[in-house]
Amino acid sequence: MKILVTGGLGFIGSAVVRAAIAQGHQVVNLDAMTYAACEANVAPVADHPAYAFEKADIRDGAALARIFAAHEPEAVMHLAAESHVDRSIDGPAAFVETNVLGTAVLLEAARRFWSERGRPEGFRFLHVSTDEVYGSLGASGFFTETTPYAPNSPYSASKAGSDHLVRAWHATYGLPVIHTNCSNNYGPCQFPEKLIPVAILNALAGRPIPVYGQGENVRDWLYVEDHALALLRALEAGQVGRGYNIGGEAEARNLDLVRLLCRILDALRPGPEPYERLITFVADRPGHDLRYAIDCRRIREELGWRPSVTLESGLRRTVQWYLDNEAWWQALQQRAGVGKRLGTAA
Ligand SMILES: NC(=O)c1ccc[n+]([C@@H]2O[C@H](COP(=O)([O-])OP(=O)(O)OC[C@H]3O[C@@H](n4cnc5c(N)ncnc54)[C@H](O)[C@@H]3O)[C@@H](O)[C@H]2O)c1
Repeated sequence: MKILVTGGLGFIGSAVVRAAIAQGHQVVNLDAMTYAACEANVAPVADHPAYAFEKADIRDGAALARIFAAHEPEAVMHLAAESHVDRSIDGPAAFVETNVLGTAVLLEAARRFWSERGRPEGFRFLHVSTDEVYGSLGASGFFTETTPYAPNSPYSASKAGSDHLVRAWHATYGLPVIHTNCSNNYGPCQFPEKLIPVAILNALAGRPIPVYGQGENVRDWLYVEDHALALLRALEAGQVGRGYNIGGEAEARNLDLVRLLCRILDALRPGPEPYERLITFVADRPGHDLRYAIDCRRIREELGWRPSVTLESGLRRTVQWYLDNEAWWQALQQRAGVGKRLGTAA
């Protein structure tokens, strides 16, 4: 299948690009190359004959029309987004523009292309979203595909807006969409502003490892390569108009997660003292959701996907990857905002 992947120079998008090429698909990677993009993420496939790159912004309808016409994709996997909650607190406008407006412009470009080509039956628009659209859980319960939306951050509200647009383009125009909502990803190539890379890199530098509030917030953790396979599975076998929750079935309190990372680092790269001593509680994120947990029975039962990596083995692989790829993260640490406390504007 020829797939147009948006955001394919980012963390998850690049895992999708690598996995799609490995499965024999053709990929057109469309990315605006924002601060979060990294060309090295697709280095393993950059010279592959099945790979093409287009630098474009999803808000640019003319560029999208040209790219659809030039490449004639059979499917779209939409991952391009502003993705960092803390940045959304300091600057929400960019999130509304890319995640809401950009998704609308992309949907329109896809719809026009699909209509002009006679509405081919196999065409798919897969929209990648987050479990954060469902808001916060208490100590028990899980998000299902029918949980009402209740986003609490500008990021999750903008993703919720994009999900509603995707739903409407299906209901109104018949565009063959599928959407997915997944939990926190981790793994190789995650931009060094998110919790896990920040913890690893601060530990290695002997700097305080910041944990928001008292570290009580619970997240479900999904290994990025498992997520990429789930998305490709949903694209190929998912039911049009349906949503699928994707989770790693690996819940952890932030404090326990960071402690586990410290123990893995103690084993793989022992420091002068146990890394756990560097853990430092810092002011909480405003509006910080307490707990996310995913019920992923639908994708398990209907599409036969399940996470293959346990949290401990995935974290071990991730830590090893950061140890082996110093040049990758050192270059990104020079980018604007990285290494600074963001998201305190509220
Ligand atoms: N990271 C997670 O844990 C997580 C969890 C659930 C869902 N998601 C969703 O998965 C998708 C990918 O997340 P990620 O963590 O890989 O993000 P990322 O920030 O690492 O990458 C985003 C990519 O999109 C590109 N991009 C941004 N704005 C663009 C625009 N206007 N036009 C074209 N390209 C643009 C960037 O250049 C970058 O390469 C997002 O839609 C995000 O909401 C992420």
